Amino acid sequence: MPALFQPFKLKDVTLRNRIAVPPMCQYQAVDGRINDWHLSHYASMARGGAGLVIVEATAVAPEGRITPGCAGIWSEELAQAFAPVVRAIKAAGSVPGIQIGHAGRKASANLPWEGDDHIAEDDARGWQTIAPSAIAYGAGLPKLPRAMTLDDIARVRQNFVDAALRAREAGFEWLELHFAHGYLAQSFFSAHSNQRDDIYGGSAENRGRFLLETLKAVREVWPENLPLTVRFGVLEYDGRDEQTLLESIGLVARFKTAGMDMISVSVGFTIPGTSIPWGPAFLGPVAERVRREAGVPVSSAWGFGTPEIAERVVKEQQLDVVMVGRAHLANPHWAYFAAKELGVERASWTLPAPYAHWLERY
Ligand SMILES: Cc1cc2nc3c(=O)[nH]c(=O)nc-3n(C[C@H](O)[C@H](O)[C@H](O)COP(=O)(O)O)c2cc1C
Repeated sequence: MPALFQPFKLKDVTLRNRIAVPPMCQYQAVDGRINDWHLSHYASMARGGAGLVIVEATAVAPEGRITPGCAGIWSEELAQAFAPVVRAIKAAGSVPGIQIGHAGRKASANLPWEGDDHIAEDDARGWQTIAPSAIAYGAGLPKLPRAMTLDDIARVRQNFVDAALRAREAGFEWLELHFAHGYLAQSFFSAHSNQRDDIYGGSAENRGRFLLETLKAVREVWPENLPLTVRFGVLEYDGRDEQTLLESIGLVARFKTAGMDMISVSVGFTIPGTSIPWGPAFLGPVAERVRREAGVPVSSAWGFGTPEIAERVVKEQQLDVVMVGRAHLANPHWAYFAAKELGVERASWTLPAPYAHWLERY
């Protein structure tokens, strides 16, 4: 059996293979509430055979949405809308996960296909953003955020805790904290966006404080036997990567001590104009280093979505779980076709029985 199709156990949860659908915003929610589109989308992803399906970045507070179409979980009512999605993912034999986050200074943006830039200041659909410091991202996201007070920091940390509790009530079995991609948590960690002069800014330890405190607070309420993971941009490709990577690995090791079960290695995306070496599996060696030096299981995304590459990075122990995003949008049965391509005998075994039976001799 290829390495990609070996089960993966984390705490009390076992994935049927090493293939995961990473969080991918659908921008179809209304006032944070998800709907039938999301049900249809996530059900198809799970039915296709992936071991884990992580529901899109879901905002812990209204101002933490990236766009007005982003999902939210800041109330019981919003949380309950996820229950059918959870059931559908489980019915297909996949593990239901959710990513919770706060978009910080990148919030209040137009949908990707309507510009992907900040909503104009005079447009009532937009809102005031918050961030560690009053520094704008720039480029298409020029809106100046309000620097967070200590009360704001405590409130958002509690927003994460409340969101985690609600995610569990909705039935999710895997929780990912969105500490990546230039959103609020990542912008605390990066000196590009955090110029605070209190205990949340300055040294790497201080810049990591909001992330670590939030993780610890969530771990206290998220069941000990269920995976708690973090998505984190461990470098920026801004020319200072060795130093950033060392700081990041140090923080990841502290996440582990605080109860994090796995890290999803990604890019910081904190500033525009960086030189990201896009290419197949470009984060593989970075993830492998984090895995080795911090001593934690890792997953990663960005360009792992061909069967040979996905198989290789698991076999070479660069990744424990491979995130396959856009290839799943193109083909929700990606796992099945990957199994066929990798020569798995009876590849239909990767699918739920009502499909597997008919495809066995097809
Ligand atoms: C439509 C879309 C929405 C995305 N939304 C999120 C998100 O909610 N949270 C997140 O961490 N990454 C998000 N991403 C990034 C993906 O999780 C993933 O890293 C990216 O698609 C690269 O993997 P791929 O090359 O397999 O597609 C999104 C990507 C796409 C294409």
